[in-house]
Amino acid sequence: MPETVPQTVPETKNLPLTPELYAYVLAHNPALDPVQQALVESTHARFPDDAIKQVAREQASLLAFLVRLTGARQVVEVGTFTGLSALAMAQALADGGRLLTLDVSEEWTAHAREAWAKAGVADRIDLRIAPAIETLRALPAEPHIDLAFVDANKDGYIDYWEEIVPRLRPGGLLVADNVLFGGQVSDPAVTEGLAVHIRAFNEHVAADRRMESVMLTVADGITLARRVD
Ligand SMILES: C[S@@+](CC[C@H](N)C(=O)[O-])C[C@H]1O[C@@H](n2cnc3c(N)ncnc32)[C@H](O)[C@@H]1O
Repeated sequence: MPETVPQTVPETKNLPLTPELYAYVLAHNPALDPVQQALVESTHARFPDDAIKQVAREQASLLAFLVRLTGARQVVEVGTFTGLSALAMAQALADGGRLLTLDVSEEWTAHAREAWAKAGVADRIDLRIAPAIETLRALPAEPHIDLAFVDANKDGYIDYWEEIVPRLRPGGLLVADNVLFGGQVSDPAVTEGLAVHIRAFNEHVAADRRMESVMLTVADGITLARRVD
């Protein structure tokens, strides 16, 4: 009989994120600026049923941090909503930098435009209202994107990945949100729905030798992937 290798579940260092611990994390992160804070509040007031779509505060800070860290000048976002992640990234752009952000909703993105104007960054943001896959396919084919953030319909993630990766400059970064999908990705009882698409995306990412990727337990899970080929 073949010898069986014991399958051990690695010990986790992650703590349960209690409300108190989360408040502590936020208290030790950069505070949202007044326009960002107002955008969080107005999104909850105007779109209470959809406000959960907005990136978490620490994600807005992380995205801005990554844009500054990489000195990104060409940023593409898939999934604008009311514009918090776009705002944070646009404010962090290097001189002359541009953010292209893609969505299908006129209503949500009208709210985003108001915030970008208040923050004085509207002139560096190009918003395209159309299915994101159409806009991505129409972009120049050569590598020109420094950083991309994917946060839209989960059944489109693999297609977005396939359009963005060849357009990333060497060393360019792709950030994907919701890669843990509320924890459903590891639940064998979940066999249908959007979690299945995210599972397929995570497999796709892990197998792609063009990219080096790391999955992190930030908010609903994010993957950072860097072009290495
Ligand atoms: C999770 S929200 C984005 C949140 C945003 N990053 C923020 O911080 O506020 C997802 C967005 O994707 C948009 N979306 C859904 N399907 C889309 C598609 N096929 N093409 C472009 N955008 C799409 C939705 O309208 C929604 O605004």
